Amino acid sequence: MTAQAPELSHALRSQRLNALTHEPHARLDALVKSHDPFGNRENFAKFVAAQYLFQYDLENLYTNAELAEIVDDLPSRARVEQARLDLADLNHAVPEGDESVRGKQHGLGAALGWVFVSEGSKLGAAFLIKRAEALQLSDSFGARHLGEPEGGRAQGWKKFVAALDGVVLDAEQERQAEAAAIAAFNRFADHLERTFA
Ligand code: HEM
Repeated sequence: MTAQAPELSHALRSQRLNALTHEPHARLDALVKSHDPFGNRENFAKFVAAQYLFQYDLENLYTNAELAEIVDDLPSRARVEQARLDLADLNHAVPEGDESVRGKQHGLGAALGWVFVSEGSKLGAAFLIKRAEALQLSDSFGARHLGEPEGGRAQGWKKFVAALDGVVLDAEQERQAEAAAIAAFNRFADHLERTFA
């Protein structure tokens, strides 16, 4: 009998997604750092442009009615507008996104996988905003999209995870959630490559 991969053995979906994306996260973290996003405001603006493109991808999911039944405060969690304002603060053009992710009819499993990565990225943002402060940026100027969500990061994450773990999915939807979480990390990496090119 083949041994089950460790990430598949966690009881909770959030833990399985966490384990599954551990490696993509480490790679993305390294990629972000390789671009020295806090070296100066110009670099930071390119990082924000990637964040904007990612949030633009997800804009329709954050306003999706079916998903909002699962995560009731979902619309207020969106950050595309904050990223747009940050770009304006930083005098950086708003890049043109494409429809390849946002125009897709994601099934429930895939939608949850994408949003999982976006919501999880708010945890790392606690560290990133501290670095942005050295560039005289804050949650009210230039680094709004990294700001602490209302009610706190930990609470917001806990609530999201509870909702994510509470949904019943069939095996195919489960597989789609996992594939989408991986796809989301790849997509963010593509955005970084583009904005820092
Ligand atoms: C687009 C997606 C993501 C991006 C761009 C991203 C980026 C980053 C970066 C650059 C750091 C390092 C911060 C520092 O050391 O100064 C970080 C840390 C962190 N991220 Fe992410 N992240 C993403 C998704 C996620 C997800 C999905 C989770 C959780 C499920 C997560 C959880 C964390 C945590 C807990 C930290 C802090 C400590 C650690 O490195 O483990 N992130 N993230």
